Amino acid sequence: MSSIPSRLRPPRPPFDPKVLLAAIWAVALVSPLHGAASYSASPPPRDATVPAAYAFGDSIVDPGNNNGLATVAKCNFPPYGRDLDPGVPMGRFSNGRVPSDMLGEKLGVKKLLPAYLDPNLELQDLLTGVSFASGANGYDPLSAELAMVLSLSDQLDFYSKYMETVRSEVGEERASAIASESLYIVCTGANDITNTYFATPLRRFEYDISSYTDLMVGSALSFLRELYELGARRIGVLSLPPVGCIPSQRTLHGGPERDCFDSANAAAVLFNSKLSAEIDSLNEDLPGARLVYVDIYYPLLAIIQNPARFGFQISTRGCCGTGNIEVSYLCNRLDHPDTCGNDTEFVFWDSFHPTEAAYHTLVDQIFSKYAGKMF
Ligand SMILES: *[C@@H]1O[C@H](CO)[C@@H](O)[C@H](O)[C@H]1NC(C)=O
Repeated sequence: MSSIPSRLRPPRPPFDPKVLLAAIWAVALVSPLHGAASYSASPPPRDATVPAAYAFGDSIVDPGNNNGLATVAKCNFPPYGRDLDPGVPMGRFSNGRVPSDMLGEKLGVKKLLPAYLDPNLELQDLLTGVSFASGANGYDPLSAELAMVLSLSDQLDFYSKYMETVRSEVGEERASAIASESLYIVCTGANDITNTYFATPLRRFEYDISSYTDLMVGSALSFLRELYELGARRIGVLSLPPVGCIPSQRTLHGGPERDCFDSANAAAVLFNSKLSAEIDSLNEDLPGARLVYVDIYYPLLAIIQNPARFGFQISTRGCCGTGNIEVSYLCNRLDHPDTCGNDTEFVFWDSFHPTEAAYHTLVDQIFSKYAGKMF
């Protein structure tokens, strides 16, 4: 299960994407601004049975699928995961658990949603759900291609293979009940805006923000239809976060004040409004589907704009390193003199990803708002 069949490997782009990604981050590193600067489990709602949870998308819900891939988008080394039990394999893009873990726990499924490519999974782990997500993925297939990670169609291929295994282990009837009664979490698209659209010229040659967000929404809809065809019914689709306010975007585009990057936020808002409308019509098209658009844009923006109200102190830089640009391999030193001691004061763990504490606050809010619509 740990090796990826060659047909599932992303096609090679016409140049070495590692060089490109390294260049994106190198630009950030030499930027003149660089260096400046308890959780309670609830039972499943009503008497719903939720046999399993599944996640698709990017680093927000990837527990380590990238560990064995030839990508620079990895984090299976310290200080990532420093607040996890040492027995938990690394690969989550945060200091602790990620939203897919937390949602699975809230539904009474399990506390940690493992990576599908984890070679140590047993049957019971498989039956209660896994994450197929892959950091640096996007709705735009080019995002996964550039980063050499799993595209959404790779993730669907794995899910389909996974369901074959489940069917052969528990029989057709139980397998189809598992597929239709479980929770599916879809969360991706941020990398499309920050990396593929704004950090490379590849899409800007041909697309403006309006047509690019159409491309993303088109891809999201075909993904959701295919997931439905494979048996999924209860699907929560997370909106884009306020991508312009993540620390890396403040550093790269926010000027001396390190403001939010307004163009990226405007792109996210536009994408979200299109996605939300399309999800409404998809629900009418697909019998029995319970697709729920889950807004994380405004809840996360509120935390970033007023961290003290939510128990945080710092929201404009991450905990790791200087907090302005470090992510993945650049956030790698146990002994970096600038890495914060107490990450519960921070909204962001690295320059892209929230801390476990911020994820808790966010997941508590979205769970109480949306769970009733799905179960
Ligand atoms: C870490 O920060 C949180 C929030 O500000 C605070 O409640 C807690 O006491 C701090 N922990 C330590 C060990 O300083």
